[in-house]
Amino acid sequence: MPLQIIRNDITKVECDAIVNAANSTLLGGGGVDGAIHKAAGRGLLLECMKLGGCKVGQAKITKGYNLPCKYVIHTVGPKWKGGNNNERELLESCYKSSLDLARENNCESIAFPLISSGVYGYPMDEAFKVAVETVAEFLMHNDMLVYIVVYNKNALATSSKLLTDIAQYIDDNYVAEHSQYYNRRTNNIDESMPLPQTRFLADEEDCCSCTEAPMMSQPSFEDAADLSDIVITLDESFSQMLLRKIDEKGMTDIECYKKANIDRKLFSKIRSNPDYKPSKPTVIAFCVALELSLAETNEMLMKAGFALSHSNKFDVIIEYFIKRENYNIFEINEALFAFDQSLLGA
Ligand code: APR
Repeated sequence: MPLQIIRNDITKVECDAIVNAANSTLLGGGGVDGAIHKAAGRGLLLECMKLGGCKVGQAKITKGYNLPCKYVIHTVGPKWKGGNNNERELLESCYKSSLDLARENNCESIAFPLISSGVYGYPMDEAFKVAVETVAEFLMHNDMLVYIVVYNKNALATSSKLLTDIAQYIDDNYVAEHSQYYNRRTNNIDESMPLPQTRFLADEEDCCSCTEAPMMSQPSFEDAADLSDIVITLDESFSQMLLRKIDEKGMTDIECYKKANIDRKLFSKIRSNPDYKPSKPTVIAFCVALELSLAETNEMLMKAGFALSHSNKFDVIIEYFIKRENYNIFEINEALFAFDQSLLGA
């Protein structure tokens, strides 16, 4: 997966380059700047002293010294002054100039902290959005593994309206595996109710009456037509359906796997092997890239032997986005990350 969101101390991340949220002197400071200089050792400061500082939005490169990386790319983020002083453009420029420098030095992987979101006061979730969007744009035209290193995840989870909406949706729909049978209205265990099968709690009413998975309704004439389509294509494998959908959507292979945040190698494995068995997050990443409906998503999942289920928080979050036709895979991954779920992509 070319763009990964991870929770870690950036000085521990093993990759070709890590990015330092520095100040314009490049002579060290607190926060991530202090942590990087401390872990790298004195050699880093000595090399920085020869660089003559750095302008806001620009980036300079040094060796990694005692860090588990070849290079440190130092960039200077904007100080937050309310949002009307070109902060967003300057922050985007930090990511762009760091990525360009990494590419010029043949880096295959790079790790970013959330630049400007600490001492410089840039609102955390806005800083995160700028990071994800700017990196995603770069990855549409370049192959590189990019980590966005979030140091304290809670900050992300508390401030976004989107995450609050998703938390509510999970609360309304998620049936934890361990939950037995209970009446949500009274929250009591109702011993008289038979153990339900898989429960799809569409809303408050359903939960009181549902004692087993809803029976498949008799297909109408239209459904029968869809059903016959499925039956005809029963032998179609996941890989064949994926390639068919790419053509139907008028996309190129590259557009599709880039949008799915899937790396080229994995896609070529899927393309060359009609019986390839992908992981569930990979299937869903392609469904999102192809902007499939919930029904089409379930159809493609079935081809790979999976299904969406309300007893799986990851699936409930995916369903939230697909129902709202929000196919922004990086926004979806931000939500999955905030709820400690695995991310979409390989
Ligand atoms: N690993 C990853 N992320 C970290 C680490 C770490 N070891 N330490 C801090 N962070 C995170 C912070 O939680 C914040 O989200 O890095 C982000 C950026 O915070 P700062 O380091 O304060 O950087 P910034 O907001 O860009 O301010 C830069 O602070 O340290 C000084 O010299 C630096 O003057 C410059 C200013």
